[in-house]
Amino acid sequence: MTRKITKICCIGAGYVGGPTMSVIAKKCPEITVTVVDINQERIDQWNDSDLSKLPIYEPGLREIVQETRGKNLFFSTDVDKGIEEAEMIFISVNTPTKTYGKGKGQAADLKYVELCARNIAKIAKTDKIVVEKSTLPVRTAAAIKSILDNSGNGVNFEILSNPEFLAEGTAINDLFHADRVLIGGDDTPSGQEAKDSLSSIYEHWLPKERILQTNVWSSELSKLVANAFLAQRVSSINSISALCEKTDANIEEVSKAIGYDSRIGPKFLNASVGFGGSCFQKDILNLVYIARSFGLQEVADYWEQVIILNDYQKSRFVDHMITTLYNTVAGKKIVIYGWAFKKDTNDTRESAAIYVVDALLEENAEITVYDPQVSENKIYADLDYLDTRSPEENRKLLTVTDEPVKAAMEAHAIAILTEWDEFKNLDWQDIYKSMLKPAFVFDGRRLLNKETMDGIGFKYYKIGQK
Ligand code: UDX
Ligand code: UDX
Ligand code: ADP
Repeated sequence: MTRKITKICCIGAGYVGGPTMSVIAKKCPEITVTVVDINQERIDQWNDSDLSKLPIYEPGLREIVQETRGKNLFFSTDVDKGIEEAEMIFISVNTPTKTYGKGKGQAADLKYVELCARNIAKIAKTDKIVVEKSTLPVRTAAAIKSILDNSGNGVNFEILSNPEFLAEGTAINDLFHADRVLIGGDDTPSGQEAKDSLSSIYEHWLPKERILQTNVWSSELSKLVANAFLAQRVSSINSISALCEKTDANIEEVSKAIGYDSRIGPKFLNASVGFGGSCFQKDILNLVYIARSFGLQEVADYWEQVIILNDYQKSRFVDHMITTLYNTVAGKKIVIYGWAFKKDTNDTRESAAIYVVDALLEENAEITVYDPQVSENKIYADLDYLDTRSPEENRKLLTVTDEPVKAAMEAHAIAILTEWDEFKNLDWQDIYKSMLKPAFVFDGRRLLNKETMDGIGFKYYKIGQK
């Protein structure tokens, strides 16, 4: 017997919780979905009547929020009430890499997840299905279960792992047309019932064959491994981009040639200045940490290499810029196109741009940044967080603009660090005219056409091409 769910609560109104719950609300009109968060400003943004103020930029999201908000989708800071009323609770809070103590720089920081579990244990008076949605190290469900089972209030909790596979920038489409949904849970009768209850929600719009049920550990580990494999592809192709720059091989031709092999496949083979985002690095570090903690040194070293290569790709890009600009960028005006970690998102976590710009600032370059969706505050906050220099110095050396073409006036160089479509349509002729000569463009996203750029007169470098 599957328990019919009528009330869902999601703790955490971020990049995962927000879009996922919006889509569940749209596809399941008979279920009331309440998204709660301790961050008042974020909740206010989700509730703003001006939909351009939503805290997340994600194509297609505004329309869904407009359709469902106030009907069966609600955003609130009343976490306790959300927990009390719901039959099913999603935990969708952030799990950043630890910045202190044991496992610093590698292990996931679970303090937010643990706080949620303790809060649920304190508040719940009726049986609940608790779903872990955040990316978590293997065995976190066990920790959550232990906290909940010792609440002493006689409530039965079923813990499920339901990792999210959406990619930012395409979140809504990924949710609508998920390749698969993964539900991990116990094989006990009540565990099976909980898995079926969650499955029935996704069955509103996805065929049952695409909803996979596994044990909890497999589900948790699969999420880490999926991201590690995807990141590994990017590092693999990026390693070959360096080799292409030394030879007459062309990275695009190589990508195409290998991608035609159906065992390899064509996706995720775009060479770039390096992968970013909240998941890839964090999940691999997590995998490395877990492997090491079980004494599997070779396994840990193998996956760590994916990150080492990614760091190499970013520093290689900066080194090439500096060498090309006659070994010095001090006092030179360099314009950065793109700050987000990929197009169609305002998320900047682990964005390659942060590290590239930080390295250029270390060389005393004068930086101007343009990104169509990332705010000035966010850009400064990202740099300040690195703590390489004082906030005052960051503000002195770097300015943020909303006029990309004008910003190029008297610039020595432009670096493209995010593949926003609008960069393709800029008036590059105009940009060329206003720049100092020789006018350099460093394309970290392989966005523009080399012949066209050479034709205009640019000194144009495209990652992966000699
Ligand atoms: C990723 C996973 O794709 C998703 O399934 C998981 O739920 C969360 O982590 P996301 O980080 O949002 O999603 O974006 P993704 O499209 O995977 O891109 C990650 C990074 O890799 C970006 O910086 C992107 O620019 C880069 N990338 C991706 C490349 O450089 N080349 C590629 O071919 C693909
Ligand atoms: C390989 C390439 O597939 C082929 O395109 C190239 O032309 C020559 O090299 P081959 O070595 O004949 O072909 O066999 P392949 O099927 O690729 O298997 C290679 C090894 O990997 C075998 O020992 C196989 O057992 C092993 N393997 C393959 C696995 O252990 N797991 C797998 O999932 C796939
Ligand atoms: P993700 O990409 O995983 O969604 P985000 O950082 O975008 O990560 O979102 C996580 C959200 O979870 C944040 O808005 C944060 O305020 C919220 N959060 C963290 N801890 C708690 C908690 N104990 N109770 C409620 N919300 C929380």
